[in-house]
Amino acid sequence: MTSIDRAFIDSLPKAELHLHIEGTLEPELKLELAQRNGVDIGQSTVEQVRDTYSFTDLTSFLAVYYPAMEVLVTEQDFRDLALAYLRRAAADGVVRAEIFFDPQAHTSRGISFATVIDGLWSAVQEAPSLGIDAALIMCFLRDHSADSAEETLAASLPYRDRIVGVGLDSDERGNPPEKFAAVFAAAKDAGYRLTMHCDIDQEQSIQNIATVLHTIGVERIDHGTNILEDPALVAEAKQRGIGFTCCPVSNSFVTDQMKGAEIAALLREGLKVSIASDDPAYFGGYVSENIAVLAEAQQLTSAEVVLLARNSLESSWASDEKKAQWLRQLEEIAG
Ligand code: ADE
Ligand code: ZN
Repeated sequence: MTSIDRAFIDSLPKAELHLHIEGTLEPELKLELAQRNGVDIGQSTVEQVRDTYSFTDLTSFLAVYYPAMEVLVTEQDFRDLALAYLRRAAADGVVRAEIFFDPQAHTSRGISFATVIDGLWSAVQEAPSLGIDAALIMCFLRDHSADSAEETLAASLPYRDRIVGVGLDSDERGNPPEKFAAVFAAAKDAGYRLTMHCDIDQEQSIQNIATVLHTIGVERIDHGTNILEDPALVAEAKQRGIGFTCCPVSNSFVTDQMKGAEIAALLREGLKVSIASDDPAYFGGYVSENIAVLAEAQQLTSAEVVLLARNSLESSWASDEKKAQWLRQLEEIAG
């Protein structure tokens, strides 16, 4: 059995394109922020907090995930959260981080949009000192109303230059992409790039994937491996160069398996598959770990691991100049 050297994976310049900043809240930081803000979270040790990070599917994960955000209160908290992630990502060779944030998870509990974006933006501005070019992607919560998404879009417009694109996350059940067609069209008109979650094994996964490709017009799909159910859609996604941001460790928590065979099949079919960590504080693996477990499970060759890194850079929304520079670095390392 071959296994790819972890130092080799770390050494590859890569983009992380599917990372929820709220999902990087490690137990240590959660305790620190709870103390700083005088929030009683009901646990006082790292082990106790870690024990609450327990779930069996997407719905039960989200039921733990949103309440945990109560410790995020001030601009400094959002900055500290993002900087902690960026430091961790730098160790994994991340040169570009496109970071999801969920404004409605904060505005709905009385934290202003300005507090969230100012804190995150402060970390984004510091990212180059860690060797990372960072960007923010604003996600709408699909289990909130379309009107709430429209209000969130309006709230974001004064900060248009700090946000590269919009996404859609949270519970897909009963919340298909067409519910957000109008707000995504408005976001596109405002110059935002578009991505959307198509979570794994949902009731209507394949219909939702068709809708995001045909009606919403996304450039990337977050997860999306159920596309394999329709070979015509696979061919179309390949032809259009749609990026698929796949998260094997996360999959193994919210479904019964990491979907490694599906991820490898899409990669080998020539689709722009990249690997990311989703909510690493909850699922326990940052980006290099995600690549390593997939490589091990699917016996990826080192050329395929390099292809994952190349795909991540190519499907990122960084400038063409920066992408060309990182791709040259990648080819130098990959040989
Ligand atoms: N929010 C955070 N992680 C998510 C995921 N994996 N799917 C949907 N919404 C999320
Ligand atoms: Zn996600």
